[in-house]
Amino acid sequence: MRRRGTEYRRYLVTAVALPQLAYCCAPAVRVWSAVTALWHRASGKSLADAERLHDLRITSEGDGTAAPIVPSAVEALMDRVHAAGMTGVRHGFNGLVMCADGTARLRRLKGLRAHAGRGVVFAAERDADRVAFNARFAASILTEETARQLLREHKASVPAGYRDYAPIDFGGGVTIGRIASTDSGTGRWDFFNRHIVTPLVTGRRVLDLGSNNGSLPLMMLRAGAASVVAVEGSPAVADFARLNARILEWRDIRRYDIRVITGDMRLFLTPDLGQFDVVTAFCSLYYLPECDMARIIAKAAAMRATLVLQANDAIHNLPASGSELRLLMTSNGYPNVDMHQFPGFARPLLVGAPQIIGDAAASERAWEAVPL
Ligand SMILES: C[S@@+](CC[C@H](N)C(=O)[O-])C[C@H]1O[C@@H](n2cnc3c(N)ncnc32)[C@H](O)[C@@H]1O
Repeated sequence: MRRRGTEYRRYLVTAVALPQLAYCCAPAVRVWSAVTALWHRASGKSLADAERLHDLRITSEGDGTAAPIVPSAVEALMDRVHAAGMTGVRHGFNGLVMCADGTARLRRLKGLRAHAGRGVVFAAERDADRVAFNARFAASILTEETARQLLREHKASVPAGYRDYAPIDFGGGVTIGRIASTDSGTGRWDFFNRHIVTPLVTGRRVLDLGSNNGSLPLMMLRAGAASVVAVEGSPAVADFARLNARILEWRDIRRYDIRVITGDMRLFLTPDLGQFDVVTAFCSLYYLPECDMARIIAKAAAMRATLVLQANDAIHNLPASGSELRLLMTSNGYPNVDMHQFPGFARPLLVGAPQIIGDAAASERAWEAVPL
């Protein structure tokens, strides 16, 4: 976890700059793609065995039903094909069938192509499928171009102070903000937070307070969190988080279970938000009055959630430092707090383990005892 070390620079060049260059040189990528397609065909590489394609609900053995082709089912078929590392669905648009289970399938494999990885050729071919889908079905699903355009447009609606706060690397050269920074967003996640937070959230239901543009909730989902409820106070920034979730789903060819709520972090103090295994507040809890910070910590403890707070030792006019947050945690239900730090980095992470205290009723009584 070295900050701005050789590894990090290599990542910036190979995973960010090169795909961006490839997007700018799309015609050259298309030529390269055509050459490699010919090479694959000439070398007789097999696509995938018929059984696997059937299991993935990509191909149909029969003629299907007489039902008209449903565009959303074709989009889902494209996602299945792309998620399996293949492209070329557009060549089968004339040979689609609807099956009894509601899925659209390909009748023939002509034009389908398997890729060794999700590099620039895969991205260009996948995009060609999606562009052709939009043209064929008068649709507007995300493409490389429209994703970038939406991000540009939306960024302009975010309050200036937060416009560049949290950079996100969605992958494949699609980024927002000053991506080289490791202070916030995916830079902070990759350099510091990921190593500590991933094992805590994998397979867990997470509540994230003060989520900004969703960068860290989205990284937690990408790292394996089961679901995230993200609470953000600024409506424009919360909308940006919703768009960012959509863009990440497109980029990763996955659905993420995220709900972005526009509202105050203190919504957590109402019964409505549900039950969580982990509560996180990265560089945000200290914007509340201290008594509300205490109540939120106590409620997380009563819920027996793991609590992860990110401090900021460079802020002096709020109770934001690692030592102040640790004291608040130990006095409100988290006697054992691990503080993770990195030399020269002002944002330590504090992790409070849930206490095993008696039965559920005792836990509820502990929360009810917190003064309003
Ligand atoms: C410094 S940013 C941190 C964002 C994010 N957690 C991160 O670490 O990248 C603080 C965020 O908390 C939000 N915020 C501040 N006070 C809030 C409140 N009372 N309720 C909800 N959100 C709040 C701000 O709008 C901002 O997006």
